[in-house]
Amino acid sequence: MSCNPYMPVPAILEKVIQETSNIKTFLVRPAKPLVFKAGQFVELTVPGTGEAPFTPSSSPAESEKIELTIMRVGKVTEKLHALKPGAELAVRGPLGQPYPLAKYHGKEILIVGGGVGLAPLRALLFALLEEVDKYKKIIVRYGARTPADIVYRKAVEESWGRKDLDVMITVDKSDADWKGNEGVVTTILGPKKLTCNPGEGVAVVCGPPIMMKFATLEILKLGYAPENIYLSMEKNMSCGIGKCGHCRLGPYYACKDGPVFTYDRVKNLNKIWD
Ligand SMILES: Cc1cc2nc3c(=O)[nH]c(=O)nc-3n(C[C@H](O)[C@H](O)[C@H](O)COP(=O)(O)OP(=O)(O)OC[C@H]3O[C@@H](n4cnc5c(N)ncnc54)[C@H](O)[C@@H]3O)c2cc1C
Ligand code: FES
Repeated sequence: MSCNPYMPVPAILEKVIQETSNIKTFLVRPAKPLVFKAGQFVELTVPGTGEAPFTPSSSPAESEKIELTIMRVGKVTEKLHALKPGAELAVRGPLGQPYPLAKYHGKEILIVGGGVGLAPLRALLFALLEEVDKYKKIIVRYGARTPADIVYRKAVEESWGRKDLDVMITVDKSDADWKGNEGVVTTILGPKKLTCNPGEGVAVVCGPPIMMKFATLEILKLGYAPENIYLSMEKNMSCGIGKCGHCRLGPYYACKDGPVFTYDRVKNLNKIWD
């Protein structure tokens, strides 16, 4: 990061991949390498429009360029989605706390994602697969609204065949070609669709707030301990460095103390799923 934490580094947009109708992956090359750990985020500036926080979806092993998978929802993201390769951007980070991978060693990892929430989990998956022998088992359960809303579809489908991954995808509403599960993500977290060992495992959840809430309740029902459930709390942010108070979460600042929190730290706070 630069000496002034508010000063972004210039970056060039190199490539844009259309993932779904409203989600694109942006390959961004910062002027200086950006070394991050899975779960950390960056503030991306669209000159003339503003900046917004996003978690890199690419491998943390790659620092020359990062990928950001971004859903179009408002001012900054609308502008971003209209940009073409070669556009000038700026990036500030890495910010926040990563997933504590050393604590996951020797354990079974259950990754549960919904919608664009698969973006930070993809960076985590890359990091886990770099040292796959250190983990007992890696399970991925992902939910999208329809087959057309599945991000990284080709990669996700290819991963179904991997021996070191147990991947299952569900869609809320299927189409004629869909051969997988139909139903919200909790329908693939029950014992019929998931063989896991909650006593020896950690669960990592990221997605829209409503999905995070019901997935977490299901994961608790399976027997995972609250201190072993890791949530990505994507609160509205501004400074990203614990100064402005925008991202207040009880006694925490989501930007500085998070965005990754274990459920036991946040479960008694007000409005955690808003
Ligand atoms: C740590 C962190 C990591 C994130 N990672 C990603 C990511 O990898 N990919 C991705 O697509 N999005 C991610 N987000 C959400 C992303 O930051 C917001 O979608 C973005 O700030 C919206 O900016 P905008 O100017 O386009 O929308 P705005 O014009 O600001 O708002 C449009 C709508 O989005 C809502 N909104 C604004 N900011 C947020 C926010 N931070 N979280 C939830 N809703 C918000 C507003 O309430 C409003 O309804 C992340 C957020 C955080 C805090
Ligand atoms: S975004 Fe400013 S304190 Fe967290």
